[in-house]
Amino acid sequence: MIKIADLITEEMQQAFRKAGYETSYGRISLSNRPDLCEYQCNGAMAAAKAYKKAPFIIANDVTVQLEDSEILEEVSVVSPGFINLKVNREFLAAYLNRIQQDEYLSIEKVKEPRTVMIDYGGPNVAKPLHVGHLRSAIIGESLKRIGRYMGDKVIGDVHLGDWGLQMGLIITELKELQPELVYFDSDYIGEYPEEAPFTIGELEQIYPAASAKSKEDEAFKEKAMEATHQLQQGNRGYIALWNHIMNVSVTDLKRNYKKLDVEFDLWKKESDAQPYIPDMVQYMKDKGYAHLDQGALVVDVKEEDDTKEIPPCMILKSDGASLYNTTDLATIVERMKLFQPDEIIYVVDKRQELYFTQVFRCARKTKLIDEETKLTFQGFGTMNGKDGKPFKTREGGVMRLETLIHEINEEMYKKIVDNRSVKDKDARKTAEIVGLSAIKYGDLSNQASKDYVFDIDRFTSFEGNTGPYILYTTVRIKSILNRYAEEGGKLQKGNIQSAVSESEKALMLEAAKFNTVVETAYEEKAPHKICSYVYDFANAFNRFYHETKILSEDNEEQKESWISLLNLVREILETCIDMLGFSAPERM
Ligand code: ARG
Repeated sequence: MIKIADLITEEMQQAFRKAGYETSYGRISLSNRPDLCEYQCNGAMAAAKAYKKAPFIIANDVTVQLEDSEILEEVSVVSPGFINLKVNREFLAAYLNRIQQDEYLSIEKVKEPRTVMIDYGGPNVAKPLHVGHLRSAIIGESLKRIGRYMGDKVIGDVHLGDWGLQMGLIITELKELQPELVYFDSDYIGEYPEEAPFTIGELEQIYPAASAKSKEDEAFKEKAMEATHQLQQGNRGYIALWNHIMNVSVTDLKRNYKKLDVEFDLWKKESDAQPYIPDMVQYMKDKGYAHLDQGALVVDVKEEDDTKEIPPCMILKSDGASLYNTTDLATIVERMKLFQPDEIIYVVDKRQELYFTQVFRCARKTKLIDEETKLTFQGFGTMNGKDGKPFKTREGGVMRLETLIHEINEEMYKKIVDNRSVKDKDARKTAEIVGLSAIKYGDLSNQASKDYVFDIDRFTSFEGNTGPYILYTTVRIKSILNRYAEEGGKLQKGNIQSAVSESEKALMLEAAKFNTVVETAYEEKAPHKICSYVYDFANAFNRFYHETKILSEDNEEQKESWISLLNLVREILETCIDMLGFSAPERM
């Protein structure tokens, strides 16, 4: 559907034209004085210079043309020449009825769907999932859902980190703990056991222990590097172990992401890109893109107008080993081959920005990527604790994601039980649903690139700009609609009548903005814009709700209209929160 702001703009442009001025002055914006008007047009000020006339006169000329407008019910000129606009109530009601009948609630799907890959999550196998990975999962999932709603073909890829030193560390530590395991017997030629020689709990002990050891014990680190090398060269026993590590770890990761309601289409891993490396390196050499620099193979990526130094992209170390870079470049090759994406979005900690600048430039320069394919780095800031430092456990360690979710859910549970609106048996489940909204909304309501403070007390509050407040509002609407249905009422679409109060009109105007907000949020990859929209929307609804006796209204037509409106508000809110990656319970 055409956006309401575009319809108003069109109306204003015609008025400028009829009054003898250029249409381009008819641009409008949302009012910055909502107490005075809903939209405003400042075009008369700009036109004053061009036509050498007082802006007030121009504004008046234009206003005269709008006397019979069906879109605007109030047009007033304020000194020195602002045109204040109020939307016609009947027009607004009709617009809302159209939204309600529209399959996508007024959203205009993209004309030519693009294939967009989102690289997010990025956990590292065998290392516990910790809060550092939380933001990537939450932001990426939301971008994916928004993109799908807009009609693009979006493929989410978890891009598991399974190719680093961590594997060698685990193998080496395991060898010290259990040297008798058959995986370490180089003469063994039989089948390896199907069962892993460790549980996820044990695996999570092994890695930190090995990692700590490698920092103090040089010999241990050497061994781990050697083990990593052997694994990459195809040592049978190590590969069998690697498979166990992968299975145990991935099962655990999937369980965790499920709790977060985050779902990946692809579970690709860094190791999947390795087969593409030899050909890619050869190609870079043959084409003369890569050259040797102190034994290492590099591609220069600096550009003339760089204001800071962008170091060359290293493809192979002097010992011939590949790097994180190499894997990412080979992954681009693989993605181009398998999916031909129009865009790849990387949702990664913003501290990796320079790194991605190098990788992207290298991929472009060496033409690994089609010219039309966009590479986007969507960097996010750090999640800090209340002390302003990166979020830690009370003991000062890295907080595991599971622990964090557990803490939030406990807090939510307490609050819900205090409210006593839900029977105890449902309270646990409800706490999980609302807890997830607290975590995700707490994250997404900030602009992704900024750091933010993870504040459990604030995030779990039912008041203020929080997930639970949005859900509380949604549940409130659902319960009115349920009561209406229980009293024998039928939910009908398209019965919305003109607003009878200011608060009702304000609510309707918010509903009319839905398409604009989602489109902008997608264009700018900015889920926080959807958050601030649902917050305004929920506030507008609550204001209306407190002023209006809906179910006890005697006039049936009026009541039906409000129910219809509420149903639309509910649909829009639920669609928005789904795009943010959570959902509303039936009761709270
Ligand atoms: N595993 C990486 C990390 O924990 C994140 C991966 C990001 N994606 C990528 N294509 N490099 O830092």
